[in-house]
Amino acid sequence: MSRYNAMREIPATAGFKEGDVFFLCGELFGRGYANGIVDEARAKGMTIIGATVGRRDNDGTLRPLNAEELAAAEENLGGKIINIPLEAGFDMEPGSDGIAPVDRFKGVKPDEWASVKLDQAEVEFSKKRGTERFCKNLAAVVAEVEKMLPAKGRLLVVHTMAGGIPRARVFMPILNKLFKGQGDRFLSSEAFWNSDMGRLCDASFNEVTADTFRYLIDATAGLREKLEVTYAAYGYHGTGVLIDGVVTWQSYTPYLQGWAKIRLEDIAIEAWEKGIKATVYNCPEILTNSSALFLGVENSLYPLMDALRAEGEQKIVKECAALLKEGATVDTLLGIANTYLTSELVTSTRDFDSWPQHNKPQQQEYMLNVSAELISLNADPKEIVCAVLSKGVFQGVGKLMFDSSWEPKAPVFWLNHDVIAKTLVKM
Ligand SMILES: NC(=O)c1ccc[n+]([C@@H]2O[C@H](COP(=O)([O-])OP(=O)(O)OC[C@H]3O[C@@H](n4cnc5c(N)ncnc54)[C@H](O)[C@@H]3O)[C@@H](O)[C@H]2O)c1
Repeated sequence: MSRYNAMREIPATAGFKEGDVFFLCGELFGRGYANGIVDEARAKGMTIIGATVGRRDNDGTLRPLNAEELAAAEENLGGKIINIPLEAGFDMEPGSDGIAPVDRFKGVKPDEWASVKLDQAEVEFSKKRGTERFCKNLAAVVAEVEKMLPAKGRLLVVHTMAGGIPRARVFMPILNKLFKGQGDRFLSSEAFWNSDMGRLCDASFNEVTADTFRYLIDATAGLREKLEVTYAAYGYHGTGVLIDGVVTWQSYTPYLQGWAKIRLEDIAIEAWEKGIKATVYNCPEILTNSSALFLGVENSLYPLMDALRAEGEQKIVKECAALLKEGATVDTLLGIANTYLTSELVTSTRDFDSWPQHNKPQQQEYMLNVSAELISLNADPKEIVCAVLSKGVFQGVGKLMFDSSWEPKAPVFWLNHDVIAKTLVKM
């Protein structure tokens, strides 16, 4: 576990202040991770600048936000949004034959995924065009950011982009089976990953989730000559949670973005070696717009309540308890989650060095059943314990990343439940 670097000490409060600039590279969504760090920047009175992925018109054209969308996004962020579309990836970029990756699946049925063949040279062509478009737009965004910088002060750049599922309709039923299928509907993530459709996902995830961080670091080289700049990015590489009372590394399976997330860490390490303060913070599994597809990812979120109790935190745990059905208690949830996390089906593939692991029929079935069982213990399916815990996590993570970014100490950190609980009890 050479790379595993858990943050154990809470960093000192950051010295960012009014006049310093905070630039969020990625759009801010309602329950997304970035809300935590944006709250911190706002509280310090920093100048907040945001970005947008842009929107696709019905004919596929990528456009900036319209006036109404821009006003709503700026209000949500509490800052100015540079309205140049920063969509990354290449699924809608035409190849040399004029056909975009998403249009190469016309007439393909979901159960035909294994036999689809893609011309890799065409995929590569689209990819190159996608990179060029993104980098060109990014350069224009950075030029706008530059105009807003003070003569002196600090700049904190936060990367929150992740994604890249190709938007061809046929992918959704396949991925739904892959992440949520049981019995006859089970689909092996390994078999899919080794198919041409899987390879396309791999290239797309790398481009959106990882390489955008490199483009961002490169595009802002000029800013580093003017101000002291630090970079922070959201990673995922499993999380240390309390299992049988001990902080233990575990992960969601099958996390197909995992290879891209390792690549993201590599980019930070490479930059760090050149003296650039870039850090990837590996964060716990929570529920956001982006993680909704990964049902069961939240099974390892429940032990946070144990970590909170250990720190004497009361508020969040009480809030969770109030959401439960009659007869269910926080201990019921913790018991089920601990049984899950110590089950052979889950521990047999728990291995840091060979992460990320692929799914297996019984493992996936068990994960999904436990997820359903735990969620059924909420009195109201729309107001769930996981939402409360997710919010706690993104707030705690936001504070840790923000404070750590003042004087970053390493290119990769794991923010585990213990250090998040220690932070939350003080917030
Ligand atoms: N949710 C989790 O459990 C979890 C765990 C660890 C790390 N993270 C990471 O946190 C970060 C934020 O994710 P989140 O879960 O808060 O979800 P989110 O949906 O709120 O954020 C996803 C971000 O990715 C951007 N994005 C998506 N597709 C894009 C594309 N093609 N081009 C450019 N940008 C694109 C969105 O604009 C948004 O800023 C991501 O890096 C994610 O991997 C999430």
